[in-house]
Amino acid sequence: MATTLSDIPKAFLRGIAHSRVALLGAMAVTIIFPFLVGAVLYDLIFHIPNPYFAGFIYMILGPAFIGGLVLIFFGLFFARGKEDVSLFTLAYFRDKLADESSYDKIRKLVFLGVFLTCINLFVFAVLGYSGYHYMESNAFCGEVCHVPMTPEYTAYQNSAHSRVNCVECHIGSGASWFVKSKISGARQLYAVVADTFSRPIETPVHGLRPARDTCEQCHRPEKFHGDKLVIKDKYLEDEKNTHVQTVLLLKIGSAGDRAAGSHGIHWHVAPENEIVYTAADWERNIIPEVSQKTANGKKIIYRSSEADEQIAAATNLQERVMDCIDCHNRPSHIYLPAAPAIDSKFLTNDIPTDLPYIKQQAMKIVSVEYKTQDEARTAIATSLTSFYKNNYADIYANNRPMVEKAIAGVQAAYVENVFPEMGIQWDTYSSNIGHSNELGCFRCHNDEHESASGEVISMDCDTCHTILAEEEEDPEVLKMLMGEM
Ligand code: HEC
Ligand code: HEC
Ligand code: HEC
Ligand code: HEC
Ligand code: HEC
Repeated sequence: MATTLSDIPKAFLRGIAHSRVALLGAMAVTIIFPFLVGAVLYDLIFHIPNPYFAGFIYMILGPAFIGGLVLIFFGLFFARGKEDVSLFTLAYFRDKLADESSYDKIRKLVFLGVFLTCINLFVFAVLGYSGYHYMESNAFCGEVCHVPMTPEYTAYQNSAHSRVNCVECHIGSGASWFVKSKISGARQLYAVVADTFSRPIETPVHGLRPARDTCEQCHRPEKFHGDKLVIKDKYLEDEKNTHVQTVLLLKIGSAGDRAAGSHGIHWHVAPENEIVYTAADWERNIIPEVSQKTANGKKIIYRSSEADEQIAAATNLQERVMDCIDCHNRPSHIYLPAAPAIDSKFLTNDIPTDLPYIKQQAMKIVSVEYKTQDEARTAIATSLTSFYKNNYADIYANNRPMVEKAIAGVQAAYVENVFPEMGIQWDTYSSNIGHSNELGCFRCHNDEHESASGEVISMDCDTCHTILAEEEEDPEVLKMLMGEM
């Protein structure tokens, strides 16, 4: 068959028309292309605020476009379209190139090819760039996986880190962690689609990047020093909801800098004190063995008094180098226990302290296990309304807004911390800062971890803090610090 160069594009079109696969691809590409380019450019310049719409572009349209191109390629070179384009072999082009008269056409063809390829590459590049940013955005992490991420996202927004992106702690910089996170992300996406994700989401996160790579991008424990005055405000469950305060001087300490050696609480993260511990359970709450490097290169091994039994009964024996997360496991997803959650609402005046017995009543009603947040909201409203109607009729009659305000405050304390739909009740995720329920610091600092030469990991109350006041009304120490004494 005599062909001219201008037959090539025609032959390709014919090939596409003959192969159903390629035709399908061509249709997809033609329909998606203008829309995709428009949407991606819009996102690049103005930003698309709706995460679902952005998700549709990057996770459905983008791959569909690329899939369309693949179909065309496949249809042309491997399916029916093969017959139409198989004519254009290398030998054919060699012939044509030998013929000077066709140079002009070749140039046009090359231009066309380069032009089309450039457009495609441009679309790929923009798609990749915007898609990368989209997948690293808080909206993608926190909102698209709506049900599973609601608790973490809510708690995160109430934390000191609400302006730090999810990825700065969960992925950090560098390609290898990005890839690792996307592989595990794909598995998680599947779990969401198939609805097989665990409720609550498991903690600790065993695949988390070592915290020193992430936290230390912003915080440098070498630079911490000294003590920190911590004041804990609490309200008692009496008629007056009495306000009391616990005052601690926390020995924050330092991981050691030129001026001072490592000491105090951040002594653990000084490189010369590397602490490696063995945990006998997945949650890392049972710690049979702790080893500590000392400055002169020796190792001190502390074993708990029940180490052998604990190791024998281990469900998940693992070794771990202690880092920030072993204490700061709740830096941004802070779920408060019930009492501090209610107390925090007194402090912000979302629950009026003038309402008699409100702390006691709030604690009673929020401590019940509900199946949904809505059920809890209703129960809180019904219970508090009936309590004040029956016991404080004058307040209920004359100061209804105060009761309404209290109801809203208690409901907020509940829905910010308890997510029954995700299996999260009070204390499902507990913090390891401090020592509530014998956990936290007391996993090691319990006077029961002893070395061969008889040293124990200290449980002496003054190791970590000086208690200046404990649940006192108007503690003297605070008056003194304020210059009132
Ligand atoms: C300041 C650092 C930081 C930021 C910012 C952050 N996280 Fe986390 N996240 C953590 C740590 C630390 C853990 C718990 C690790 C552990 O105990 O092993 C965690 C745990 C989780 C878990 C597992 C369940 C749990 O609560 O233990 C999920 C899910 C999660 N984060 C999602 C997110 C999402 C979504 C965002 C952004 C909206 C985000 N994180 C932002 C540090 C962070
Ligand atoms: C991108 C920077 C960044 C990263 C990464 C980061 N933080 Fe922070 N962190 C901050 C900023 C900023 C604040 C202060 C916020 C404020 O004062 O409101 C803060 C505050 C804190 C506080 C004090 C919290 C409080 O309630 O006052 C702790 C503790 C902390 N970070 C621990 C961590 C840990 C642990 C990690 C790693 C899991 C981490 N941070 C990762 C920026 C970061
Ligand atoms: C042994 C447990 C432990 C380890 C390990 C630890 N911290 Fe802390 N950190 C604490 C405690 C306890 C506090 C005081 C908490 C409070 O204010 O209630 C604290 C306070 C902080 C603060 C706030 C300091 C201030 O002056 O308000 C930051 C920031 C912080 N830690 C970051 C880190 C980082 C980053 C790492 C890892 C390199 C780390 N910590 C390792 C226990 C630890
Ligand atoms: C994995 C075990 C482990 C955990 C968990 C742990 N520590 Fe320690 N800590 C040690 C070891 C080991 C030592 C060294 C022995 C000692 O001084 O008692 C130590 C020493 C200390 C010291 C003395 C440091 C110095 O100046 O010599 C302080 C303060 C301290 N820890 C605070 C804390 C606090 C606060 C927590 C909880 C937020 C905590 N530790 C959690 C293992 C642990
Ligand atoms: C290994 C370190 C460590 C030891 C030992 C320790 N504590 Fe603490 N304790 C802490 C930390 C850290 C906090 C602060 C927790 C926080 O910021 O929420 C704390 C908080 C407290 C609080 C205030 C709790 C609250 O929420 O009101 C009291 C009271 C307290 N400790 C008493 C004691 C007593 C009594 C001992 C001695 C048996 C002791 N602690 C031993 C680390 C320690």
